[in-house]
Amino acid sequence: MESVIWVNLPQQAYEIAIAGSGLAQLGAGMTNLNLGKKVLVVSNPTIFRHYGQEAIASLKSAGFDVTSLTLPAGERYKTLNSVQKIYNAALENRLERSSTLVAVGGGVIGDMTGFAAATWLRGINFVQVPTTLLSMVDAAIGGKTGVNHPQGKNLIGAFHQPRLVLIDPEVLKTLPMREFRAGMAEVIKYGIIWDAELFEQMERSPHLDSLRLDSSLLQQILTRSCQAKADVVGKDEKEAGLRAILNYGHTIGHAVESLTGYRVVNHGEAVAIGMVAAGQIAVNLQMWDKTDAQRQDALIQKAGLPTQLPAGLDIEAIIDTLQTDKKVKAGKVRFVLPTQIGAVTVTDQVPSDVIRTVLRQMSTCS
Ligand code: GLY
Repeated sequence: MESVIWVNLPQQAYEIAIAGSGLAQLGAGMTNLNLGKKVLVVSNPTIFRHYGQEAIASLKSAGFDVTSLTLPAGERYKTLNSVQKIYNAALENRLERSSTLVAVGGGVIGDMTGFAAATWLRGINFVQVPTTLLSMVDAAIGGKTGVNHPQGKNLIGAFHQPRLVLIDPEVLKTLPMREFRAGMAEVIKYGIIWDAELFEQMERSPHLDSLRLDSSLLQQILTRSCQAKADVVGKDEKEAGLRAILNYGHTIGHAVESLTGYRVVNHGEAVAIGMVAAGQIAVNLQMWDKTDAQRQDALIQKAGLPTQLPAGLDIEAIIDTLQTDKKVKAGKVRFVLPTQIGAVTVTDQVPSDVIRTVLRQMSTCS
């Protein structure tokens, strides 16, 4: 099974190739892109142990001159210090303007490698080989790269589009179940914001976890999710408007993640909680049908994701944290709210009392 989705942008177009045994095709996939010979593969130790040699062998057999670097995984390592290590390796290996950084890993590796590629020699080529469901359907597509500042997530960054995104669904077999579920939150997000058929397909499926998902359904879920992301990014590369809908569930989700120190819930779980909250806000404002909100919450539950706030989280602290979100514009918090399954709207007209009421309903201590 193989799908190819194009991300069509004003300055360039690139392919998202989704293919079983895709890793073995990495070198061949890069040969037609008019890249220089030198390639630096950046990965994390676990992923590199599983897939590094296969990726390198494929690149070498296509004639590339390959070196590699591993960096620790995890949000707390997504720093300028780690990017400095990529620069050091680029210098040591004499990477040139025509050279390529290949990220083989999840969102953290992809974001840091992309940022290094955006800035080294004012911009070199970049290829994404995402290895988590979350990075396959979201982070690896669309050119958002960057690192965290001690005061906030992704505050330092640049738009730098990859030349190719290569997705090999087979690598998901080594992904921990909790990480797979986190990715499913973003897939459900696409169902709500863009693709009602994807949503219904998941509703019809008896299971939504990686171990029991058949490979044909997984391929369809990946293809439709990547298509949704490619459509949105193709219409609004730099987030002047439409792209903000990709933040559905992220407003309250980010507040929950940051207030729990990025330790209690992972990103996908936070997005799931945020989608439940946004859905309830939309119902409260009479913008969304209650039955559709229940369908959303049921799907989130079926995917093994949380629908309630973590215990002990202070609701006023969440409301305060919303004010520091990147999405705040002129002091107003912007929410992405569903109007039907497959369509959303962006608004900054959500009264704090409505947020408070919804969060109280979702509180595990109430
Ligand atoms: N992950 C949101 C975006 O790419 O815009």
